[in-house]
Amino acid sequence: MPVDHRGLYRERLRTAEQAAALIPSGAKVAMALGAGQPPAILAALAGRARAGAVAEVRLYYLLCTGIAGGSVFDFDLADRLIPMSYFHGGVERALDKRRLGEKLPAVDIVPCHFSQVPRSLVEHVGVDTLIATVSPMDAQGHFSLGTSTDYSLAVARKPGTRLILEVNPRMPYVRGNCMIPVSDVTALVEHDAGLPLLPPAPRTDIDDRIGAIIAGLVEDGDCLQMGIGALPDAVCAGLSGHRHLGIHTEMMTPGLSALVKAGVVDNSRKQTHVGRSIFTFALGDQPLYDFLHDNPAVEAHPVEYVNNPFVIAQNDRVVSVNATLQIDLNGACNSEFVNGRQFSASGGQVDFVRGAYASRGGRSIIACHSTAAKGSISRIAPHLTGPVTTPRNDTHIVVTEYGWTVLKGKSAAERAKALIEMAHPAFREQLDKAAYEAGLYARA
Ligand code: COA
Repeated sequence: MPVDHRGLYRERLRTAEQAAALIPSGAKVAMALGAGQPPAILAALAGRARAGAVAEVRLYYLLCTGIAGGSVFDFDLADRLIPMSYFHGGVERALDKRRLGEKLPAVDIVPCHFSQVPRSLVEHVGVDTLIATVSPMDAQGHFSLGTSTDYSLAVARKPGTRLILEVNPRMPYVRGNCMIPVSDVTALVEHDAGLPLLPPAPRTDIDDRIGAIIAGLVEDGDCLQMGIGALPDAVCAGLSGHRHLGIHTEMMTPGLSALVKAGVVDNSRKQTHVGRSIFTFALGDQPLYDFLHDNPAVEAHPVEYVNNPFVIAQNDRVVSVNATLQIDLNGACNSEFVNGRQFSASGGQVDFVRGAYASRGGRSIIACHSTAAKGSISRIAPHLTGPVTTPRNDTHIVVTEYGWTVLKGKSAAERAKALIEMAHPAFREQLDKAAYEAGLYARA
């Protein structure tokens, strides 16, 4: 007898309040990433916490949007609904600032490569619940995780996970390894709401100069990964004349989808998933979400697959492009601390730095403006003032608006000299002095 998917669906249907009431005090909840954060369930959970009905719930996640920021992560609920971030953004920075003023501990961060987050959640943290927005159910009784497959699929597949899903007709039905069968679900909530939009980061002349330099390092037929921020957007803008590019990326962005629509990307030269663009999460504008919907040329896969350096390296000529905040004179990069505080996190930077370099003919590019804080601080620095996100041994090509340099094969002294040439001229003399005093090289 065929399975009655509709009947299972009806059995599991709850109000948001009923669904949130299934989350007990002390629960360890994986909250979907970014656009996958379910507004109705989160609002109901925040309401229960405010009413004192639930406490000590830990929420694990990457990339918090205003949906969680405006509900479960209200400052006054922080003792009951505890943010456990794998990647800080504006919400955590604002909370952190208030906590600092009130002498409270910072928003906690779980240091982890993105590719390892699923194992971290399932094996080490032992999450017991997933809350996520999904697409409407298909004829086979499956919901697509849409914009946010990443760690959610692994958590959903862990036996015994309490699976509380918000079915939103605006969540794109994305193909790939990103489906949850209705038979696995604990509770379903129906809610029609626009997905969060990420406004494009304003691009400066310097972004465009760096974008043009990087676009010049990309050849027809290369396979791309682009990171987050204005710089990768500027690179996409510089690639409009390229042909036969491929995409195997952590984050699908409006810039990358525009390259597919323009015929610049056709994925014809890839060794894996030929003809299809592969990603693990998407965040951007409505045209991006429309592009993803039921598109056979795009697939979402779990992050332990997409970001696995061995999987990345199965394609030839992978070019990864990621931004950083600070580079020391050896080439180590801090991509997560500003002014001594957690600003973002490592995400998949190292996954792609290693995967791209391991790919035949691959190149991993780390880029940044030469200065920060309106030109008052050099991002090329004698020492990092934060954690090492990308170790010096891994950094391959560095780009600033002053050009590009390959660090692989260069000695410490050669790296220091090359990086100082990438620094803003106003800081070169003091960097040269610092390198000399650190014994990196003798003065000419
Ligand atoms: N010292 C002091 N301030 C600094 C600084 C430094 N070394 N570097 C940057 N800043 C300041 C900037 O001036 C800017 O402040 P402003 O907004 O007041 O001008 C702010 O910090 C952000 O810097 P910016 O370079 O504009 O950040 P971004 O939005 O382009 O993001 C990263 C850059 C590195 C934070 C981001 O790419 C990231 O999180 N990377 C790690 C994850 C990753 O690479 N994942 C890869 C796959 S998606």
